[in-house]
Amino acid sequence: MTALLSASDIHKSFPRHGSTVRVLSGCGLDLGAGEAVAITGSSGAGKSTLLNILGGLDHPSAGQIAFDGEYLDFGSPRALTRWRADVVGFIFQFHFLLPDFTTFENLLIPVRAHRAVTADDHARARGFLERMGIAHRSDHLPGELSGGEQQRVAVARAFMNRPRIVLADEPFGNLDGRISNQLSDLLFELKEREGTSLVIVTHDPELAGRADRHYVLEKGNLILGT
Ligand SMILES: Nc1ncnc2c1ncn2[C@@H]1O[C@H](COP(=O)(O)OP(=O)(O)O)[C@@H](O)[C@H]1O
Ligand SMILES: [Mg+2]
Repeated sequence: MTALLSASDIHKSFPRHGSTVRVLSGCGLDLGAGEAVAITGSSGAGKSTLLNILGGLDHPSAGQIAFDGEYLDFGSPRALTRWRADVVGFIFQFHFLLPDFTTFENLLIPVRAHRAVTADDHARARGFLERMGIAHRSDHLPGELSGGEQQRVAVARAFMNRPRIVLADEPFGNLDGRISNQLSDLLFELKEREGTSLVIVTHDPELAGRADRHYVLEKGNLILGT
């Protein structure tokens, strides 16, 4: 079976003080359609670096990423941007909502970025807001929402373009335990309903335990956790 997303022998080094720092040294990961994979690891281990490479936000120093059996062309920023818009949804620790747009408008931004918004998109956005329990916040600006509510919008936004893969980088790390659990429930519910694959970076062992597989990033390599 071909994996939906397949990373092979990913290396990444960054220049620092005239030398180079090796962050990833041969990571491999196969993500199946509809599968959830969790990645944990200490701070600075390279989790965000790996996630950004998986989502085409950064390029590897060596190694390949294949989607649906085809290699991503990191030499073609245009094709990469298009691929990201079609295939990947991102959730970051900080919500990155646009402050001058309402909740509802923020949900439509990823759609608007690459095609005209339709009545279906409006219905989908409204449906998400209801499912996330923030329909009453549709016309509010991000600054008027609580941290948990902001992150609910960010989760819904990640799914707006019907992505095949959602990449989440410590998405609820800033929220307290109870709210973080509620949001994890909602994220996994949405993932199941939409049939999306998920890679989630987290410090939360309970959240990592919800994934189908759990890896630890250590010394530049992904090691299958227990
Ligand atoms: N753009 C960059 N330039 C230089 N060094 C970077 C860059 N991004 C990350 N690093 C370095 O790579 C290492 C891993 O960072 P990161 O992927 O953010 O770790 P994690 O997400 O696991 O905390 C760190 O030492 C960090 O300083
Ligand atoms: Mg990080």
